[in-house]
Amino acid sequence: MDRLLPLYTHFSGVLKHFENIRCPQVNMEKVSWMYRTRGRRRALETAALLIMNSLCLLVILKILVHENCDKITSQKMVREAQPPATMTPTCEQNMSAANIEGFFTLPTYIQEFLYYRHCRYFPMLLTVPNKCSIPKGSGEPFFLLAIKSSPKNYERRAVLRKTWAAERLQNGVWIRTVFLTGTTGTGFDKQRLNKLLELENKRYQDILQWDFADSFYNLTLKQVLFLDWMQNWCPTADFLFNGDDDVFANTDNMVEFLKGQGDNDGSKHLFTGQLLLDSVPIRDNTSKYFIPEQIEKADLYAPYCSGGGYLYSRFTARTILQMSQSITLMPIDDVYMGMCLKQAKLQPTDHQGVWADGLIIPSAKLDIYDPCHYREIILGHKFLPDQIYLLWNEIHRKDLDCAKKEVDL
Ligand SMILES: *[C@@H]1O[C@H](CO)[C@@H](O)[C@H](O)[C@H]1NC(C)=O
Ligand SMILES: *[C@@H]1O[C@H](CO)[C@@H](O)[C@H](O)[C@H]1NC(C)=O
Ligand SMILES: *[C@@H]1O[C@H](CO)[C@@H](O)[C@H](O)[C@H]1NC(C)=O
Repeated sequence: MDRLLPLYTHFSGVLKHFENIRCPQVNMEKVSWMYRTRGRRRALETAALLIMNSLCLLVILKILVHENCDKITSQKMVREAQPPATMTPTCEQNMSAANIEGFFTLPTYIQEFLYYRHCRYFPMLLTVPNKCSIPKGSGEPFFLLAIKSSPKNYERRAVLRKTWAAERLQNGVWIRTVFLTGTTGTGFDKQRLNKLLELENKRYQDILQWDFADSFYNLTLKQVLFLDWMQNWCPTADFLFNGDDDVFANTDNMVEFLKGQGDNDGSKHLFTGQLLLDSVPIRDNTSKYFIPEQIEKADLYAPYCSGGGYLYSRFTARTILQMSQSITLMPIDDVYMGMCLKQAKLQPTDHQGVWADGLIIPSAKLDIYDPCHYREIILGHKFLPDQIYLLWNEIHRKDLDCAKKEVDL
């Protein structure tokens, strides 16, 4: 028995790979049924027998797995040693949150946020461990796109993979993409969406999914979990783009901009996008962006870049993650990034090419989707998938002539 105990401990880590094998030892329903119908003694005997059987099964499996393990790389072993998702304790609701003054006058989604604000760890349902390990050997700089996407936004992801988020070697820089997702819905709906993401990840290897409710108010959580993932699984990325799945990001221009950063190869501070200064918390409880004093007392937010999309360096990503460990989560993700930057005494900067609130077109006579407006920018907001597809192809047209139109203005 002494020899078998550590064996069992070892096993709990790899058992998830044998999901089809149900250990009879844990079939409590069966055990209690016997307990009631055949008496205590008989039940104990049966239980003992079942336990012995399971241990034998474990020994056999151990031998089988041991052979396979020799062929698995050390990196994979590390992952398999992690406990399966079901074994990690779920984060408990903080009941004292209800003692916060005026708690019950707050909208329910804010109450919900306050109850779970302290929860920072959620198990991953889907990941891509090799996302950043392949091209790095080539010595090229590395640009990782991390796009926030809700599980149901299948069409958006499908179009982005064919357009600006396509993984490629662009002008000597490797572009790699991950979509950041949580879970939505309950019951069958949730299962179906999880299955969809699983299929997408099998095919495209670009989905990160954590087991938390993918809601507007949980976007900061998503952001912090991503930074943590990046630190562990993609620390080699030199630059990052974080943005929404409804933006038009001209990643060709982003690469050009990043290459022009002089001696900043990602090891120095960079955080740029549409800079918002002197933003104030919205105290109107009918607004989507409502932030009550119970969440944020300050009258003014620290400078930040609009969450539609911004660029930052590996150095800044690591710094923000470190700062976040001591800063209470606040629901608006881009504001939270600004708070972390401020704590680190780093400034976000404005990039003229980011139009997160939509493009301002100089004349009503012009087509707002004219590709010539989008050739020079690096980001525009609120596009439908078909518009993104068309625009991306238009700006890459060899015969696109924008010089003539500018003269006509
Ligand atoms: C629970 O909420 C109360 C009130 O906001 C807070 O003081 C306390 O630190 C929270 N506990 C945890 C574990 O976050
Ligand atoms: C918004 O605030 C007002 C005044 O405090 C309150 O009467 C109302 O119920 C609140 N609405 C919501 C949706 O919480
Ligand atoms: C955030 O996710 C957690 C875990 O799924 C959930 O309990 C909580 O209600 C979510 N918060 C909001 C505000 O949606």
